[in-house]
Amino acid sequence: MDKFIIRGGNKLQGEVEISGAKNAVVAIIPATILAQDVCRIENIPNISDVSIMIRILYQMGAQIKYINPHTLEIDTRNIVSSTVPHDLTKHLRASYYLLGALLGRYGHAKVAMPGGCDFGVRPIDQHIKGFEALGAEVTIDNAMVNACADTLLGSPVYLDMVSVGATINVMLAAVKAKGLTIIENAAKEPHIVDLANFLNCMGADVRGAGTDVIKIRGVEELHGCSYSIIPDQIEAGTYMVAAAATGGDVLIKNVIPKHLESISAKLIECGADVTEYDEAIRVKSNGRLSKCNVKTMPHPGFPTDMQPQMAVLLSIAEGTSIISESVWDNRYRYVEQLIRMGAKIQVDGKVAVVEGVEKLMAAPIKATDLRAGAAMLIAGMVADGETEIEDIEFIDRGYEDVVDKLLALGADIRRVPVEKPFTDAKQVL
Ligand code: EPU
Repeated sequence: MDKFIIRGGNKLQGEVEISGAKNAVVAIIPATILAQDVCRIENIPNISDVSIMIRILYQMGAQIKYINPHTLEIDTRNIVSSTVPHDLTKHLRASYYLLGALLGRYGHAKVAMPGGCDFGVRPIDQHIKGFEALGAEVTIDNAMVNACADTLLGSPVYLDMVSVGATINVMLAAVKAKGLTIIENAAKEPHIVDLANFLNCMGADVRGAGTDVIKIRGVEELHGCSYSIIPDQIEAGTYMVAAAATGGDVLIKNVIPKHLESISAKLIECGADVTEYDEAIRVKSNGRLSKCNVKTMPHPGFPTDMQPQMAVLLSIAEGTSIISESVWDNRYRYVEQLIRMGAKIQVDGKVAVVEGVEKLMAAPIKATDLRAGAAMLIAGMVADGETEIEDIEFIDRGYEDVVDKLLALGADIRRVPVEKPFTDAKQVL
């Protein structure tokens, strides 16, 4: 296990290239199961969530070939199993996409309940409701979800709340169902559109992705294709906030600025300069930023996955800001870490009141989940002194080459092994 050591105070300056989108690729890799063919996927980020998903497919019998570090060929013709055990799913929320993909291909799937970051209860009732609407019988037994259908039939599916995961899972199960599926109240995140484009590239008929009604007309067969993943909205947003919080000037390349509008708007409100180019965005700030209120919402609202990073920026901004988390029940576990660094934040349910302080001070802290870990990196970079961040395996789940990217921008950061805890009394006798 490693930890990060960051000496704060450097302004981030220069250019950074954004990797492919984690939340798109973890849906697109399982979607290859539907093709029974060879798919070439480019712009794959080198992060641990992707490695786990690839390992799962490999263990199911898919052939995986790395063409280069960011391009994979996945051959799903010889998949031999529609069962995915707990030891493979426990680290990864997105493992539940295997349910939709296997159900779509075989008419049955047995997948252990998914793992992932802890934001309180994370139900999958809407996924199940969607599968049942298509004619599947779904049971949960011994933490395994079993879905089974004689024939999947297209159907209207109304989601009770906007759910990224349920929208994706219903899309996966419906592309080869007989007839028309209409998902109402669908999620509109960029990765939903990316998955729809990928499915269509394999010969599916998916329309309306990016709006709240998605229509999927089932097709008999899908075929292999070549596809490039969109840039990661949240990785880009994290570097934008890091640039602004450190008083830096960073050109963030390989982005789709439209996906970043809600983040740009908040940074501008706080006093940062944001300039959009075709495939890049520049964030510059000088002097202390000012407060702003943030409410997280499904896309195109401000992403919940940017809430912790923004909280760090606001913790050193002038004035008092209010953050309202409207997606997850419990996404403030990281606040305790920031308080150790001198932040003044009070949490009441889904609302955090952030009273800006002049500066944060270095402290030993830990990443409590993936985006909280990204926030801790920013906190370390703006704090006085040397901050140590433990549990950084969360950060490795979603940020490719984070140390090299930050070093290139002038941060003082290094990854060092955590000394093993003392376990053997004889060693000191
Ligand atoms: N919900 C239900 N029932 C369901 C599904 C969801 O009640 O069947 C609720 C959830 O409890 C939550 C809300 O609906 O309150 C939204 O959950 P959603 O299903 O949209 O979340 P998810 O698909 O599990 C994805 C991302 C998360 C991101 C959320 C929201 C992936 C693999 N994960 O999770 O990303 O926070 O959407 O945008 O795409 C991250 O990347 O760090 C991350 C956690």
